[in-house]
Amino acid sequence: MTTKINMTNPLFKEEIDTVKPYKPGKPIKEVERELGLKNVIKLASNENPLGPSGKSVRAMKKAIRDIHLYPDGGCYYLTKKLSQMLEVSESQIIVGNGSNEIIELLARGFLSPGDEVLSSEQTFLVYPILSQVCGARYVTVPMKNHGYDLKALLQAVSDRTKIIFIANPNNPTGTYVTAKEVESFLKHIPEDILVCFDEAYLDFVEAKDFPNALQYVKRDLPNVLVLRTFSKAYGLAGLRVGYGIGHKKVIQYLHKIRQPFNVNSIAQAAALAALGDTFFRWRTKRLVASGRRYFYKQFKKMKLKYLPSQANFVLVDTGVDGDRVYEALLRKGVIVRSMKAYGFETWLRITIGKTKENKRFCRALEECLAVQ
Ligand SMILES: Cc1ncc(COP(=O)(O)O)c(C=O)c1O
Repeated sequence: MTTKINMTNPLFKEEIDTVKPYKPGKPIKEVERELGLKNVIKLASNENPLGPSGKSVRAMKKAIRDIHLYPDGGCYYLTKKLSQMLEVSESQIIVGNGSNEIIELLARGFLSPGDEVLSSEQTFLVYPILSQVCGARYVTVPMKNHGYDLKALLQAVSDRTKIIFIANPNNPTGTYVTAKEVESFLKHIPEDILVCFDEAYLDFVEAKDFPNALQYVKRDLPNVLVLRTFSKAYGLAGLRVGYGIGHKKVIQYLHKIRQPFNVNSIAQAAALAALGDTFFRWRTKRLVASGRRYFYKQFKKMKLKYLPSQANFVLVDTGVDGDRVYEALLRKGVIVRSMKAYGFETWLRITIGKTKENKRFCRALEECLAVQ
């Protein structure tokens, strides 16, 4: 199959021309600059409110002295430590410039024009972008009770399906698929379809029936890949480090197409140190768990519908136009995310912040809704 050419200007590929760009959360400095505000808070991008761990900061300071040298292209120490912690072989791990890079490698490595990528509606918006860029058709099925419907996904599998993305817990709903659902789903998936479990928010999960997707990699299933990141619980979003764990044949293949120095040396040092800071991670999880409970209580008080979440954010239905409430909150110095791009017209996604930030958001939301 040949690549389609945009007829208005043959230089541009139509599949890229029609991509809807990803709109990230607004940076604090941008809002302060544009609205002339001070003390703006950001609860918009599911970052860690505690910042990075002290151990990571010390490791970064040390690593900076060697910044004139290229990084270790194979991320030797980080991969080794991960392999010990996860009890998989080093050949089953690939580290990337954020887990986004691994998603991109999957798309570049496995997708050709005409192929299909399967996922749910209202999930991470990077999946359609990177699939489309490679000329693949992005096929989605509706959600069931605001969560992935694995039975519907199974029915949507075609002979063109190459990759299935399952964000678990899902962004932006915070919902999850259970171990039982995953077990029966995988039984019916042929080995030539790659199933990617994106576990960016795994560290915040409390549900007892949450699946252990890594067990499938350990059982040597050739087509299961697990994605994890240092951007959330480890507090290193700005450094861009994530990784994939899968069958060694898949990992070897992905290594061939990554850039030789895809993860910078400061990021490698910080991530390695972060793995050794279990106390920091414990504090993060505790903060997120109590923040979620606080939001639930406040939303109940405000009589707003919300989705119980297994992640470090909560989705809430404001009952009015989401963009309008988002703008009103911005003017009060609180950055959140309107969920219109995900098809939730009246909903906002709020990242759990520090206790003070959560309280400020709830006060601001009440004020904004009082005048809508
Ligand atoms: C579901 C999901 N996967 C992957 C990522 C990307 O993480 P990273 O910062 O490692 O690229 C995000 C970030 O928001 C996410 O929500």
